[in-house]
Amino acid sequence: MELHVKSFFEKITHDVEEFRFSQFKTQIIISLLRLQLYVIGKEAMESKPTIPKLKQIARQMENKSAREVLRWAVDTYGLRIGLASSFGPEDVVLIDIMIKINKEKTRIFTLDTGRLNQETYDLMDTIRKKYAIQIEVFFPEQKEVEQMVQIKGMNLMYESVENRKLCCEIRKVHSINRALSKLDGWITGLRREQAITRTHIQKVEIDSSHDNIVKVNPVADWTNEMVWDYIHKNNVPYNKLHDIGYMSIGCEPCTRAVPPNEDPRSGRWWWETGTHKECGLHWDDNKQSKK
Ligand code: ADX
Ligand code: SF4
Repeated sequence: MELHVKSFFEKITHDVEEFRFSQFKTQIIISLLRLQLYVIGKEAMESKPTIPKLKQIARQMENKSAREVLRWAVDTYGLRIGLASSFGPEDVVLIDIMIKINKEKTRIFTLDTGRLNQETYDLMDTIRKKYAIQIEVFFPEQKEVEQMVQIKGMNLMYESVENRKLCCEIRKVHSINRALSKLDGWITGLRREQAITRTHIQKVEIDSSHDNIVKVNPVADWTNEMVWDYIHKNNVPYNKLHDIGYMSIGCEPCTRAVPPNEDPRSGRWWWETGTHKECGLHWDDNKQSKK
């Protein structure tokens, strides 16, 4: 009996010690994980250029090629920067260059307004398969769209500029705000010759409309010919609507083909006159200037 009680207490003592030891081990693991997270966070903060540094880099990048600008962006921000792609000619060029620079660090996202052309969805899948990559898709907020169409109708965009801008705001601008809130920067296919509202863009900018993250426009100084030359030489997939006269492609109800030699953006919101042909992703109507 005495022996049993003794071994019982020995066992309890052993279990308690083992329990304390395993608790100790858990504490050590938690501390190590915290330290690791701190180091990762600190490194991310330290490798992200400050605003004065970015201004200096922006000046240097103006003379660099699209590939050099993209390499800098990918090396500096990795997966903290994403290419905003509508799968227009400039965007597919950027995808091809980025993948060739570093596929592991290529992050691509798109805003699906719910009103895109079938040909655009086809191209997304072609790109996804050809390069074996994932594309992050941002949809508009369901409640906002439901409320908007319930009050203003499905085709509100044709009824007034105000309605059209509301639709762009809900289907595009709110989505980009959500996408960018998770990033330190974004890459776009903007070019200076595309529109009067884009003539002053720089290759590297500080995006004051989105918490001062970096905005990179690697093909800012490219011409339309340069874009198509790259596409054909590198066998890059493109939107089939371009073969039937579409130049700049947005949403299906708001885009149409344009006759040769006409302003490429005249096929966007073609019924509107006297307004800037911008949806608000890159242009601030309140400030009447680029974002
Ligand atoms: S828009 O403001 O008039 O719609 P545009 O079609 O010229 O813009 O595209 C310019 C750039 O904005 C694209 O190269 C791309 O970086 C970004 N962009 C436009 N639409 C989208 C979209 N639906 N999803 C993601 N990025 C987009
Ligand atoms: Fe709506 Fe047309 Fe703007 Fe697309 S381009 S979000 S359909 S108004």
